[in-house]
Amino acid sequence: MPHETPFQTAEPFLPKHISLLALQKASRACRGCDLYKRGTQTVFSEGAREARIMFVGEQPGDKEDKAGHPFVGPAGGMLDKALEKAGIDRSQVYVTNAVKHFKWEPRGKRRLHSKPNAREVAACKPWLKAEVDAIQPDVIVALGATAAQAIFGRKFRVTKHRGEPIADSFWAPCVMATVHPSSLLRAPDEAARHAAITAFEKDMRAVKKQLDHIKPHAKSRHSPADA
Ligand code: URA
Ligand code: SF4
Repeated sequence: MPHETPFQTAEPFLPKHISLLALQKASRACRGCDLYKRGTQTVFSEGAREARIMFVGEQPGDKEDKAGHPFVGPAGGMLDKALEKAGIDRSQVYVTNAVKHFKWEPRGKRRLHSKPNAREVAACKPWLKAEVDAIQPDVIVALGATAAQAIFGRKFRVTKHRGEPIADSFWAPCVMATVHPSSLLRAPDEAARHAAITAFEKDMRAVKKQLDHIKPHAKSRHSPADA
């Protein structure tokens, strides 16, 4: 393919010393896959350094791409509402994405979301691992299939394992997967939407339960860098 980036992953772009600030700065210049050419900017993760939960989405959407912040659009609104209902304090939450550039296709004047492929997810994974290293969350929640496959591997099925707490020593003391909040917005009718939101809220309560269960700051001593 002409003009393809010579880089296979984000690895060469990572800073030597991992700190959130160093990661955020370095991520702006990432050329780890071709997606940097399509998105407006790298949308890095956000939240408190001491956050106990990390939510991993798929990739920034149209709004996030323009704003430069994750989960500020409609999907972020759905997530915020469910968190509030489950009694999860937003200050305990860190939000990130499996892929940090917006992948889109033109559709008239609109930019239509296009799912990142396995190669792009793999290319971006060093950022995700470094973020987990920096934050050391007690609970990681994969939102949707892309995030779940970045964390658990490509054979993982969210439909089969949603809401199940998984004790994973590499990533965090507890890792869980659920659907992406944008899927709630795509429900075909009001009844389906209501059911989807109810199920998502149930998963958020399961997250809260794990959070209450795990001793605060019982951070994993294992590095996800080997995962
Ligand atoms: N969807 C995601 O997966 N991430 C965002 O940041 C916004 C929408
Ligand atoms: Fe780098 Fe990830 Fe953006 Fe690809 S999507 S250029 S790997 S930050």
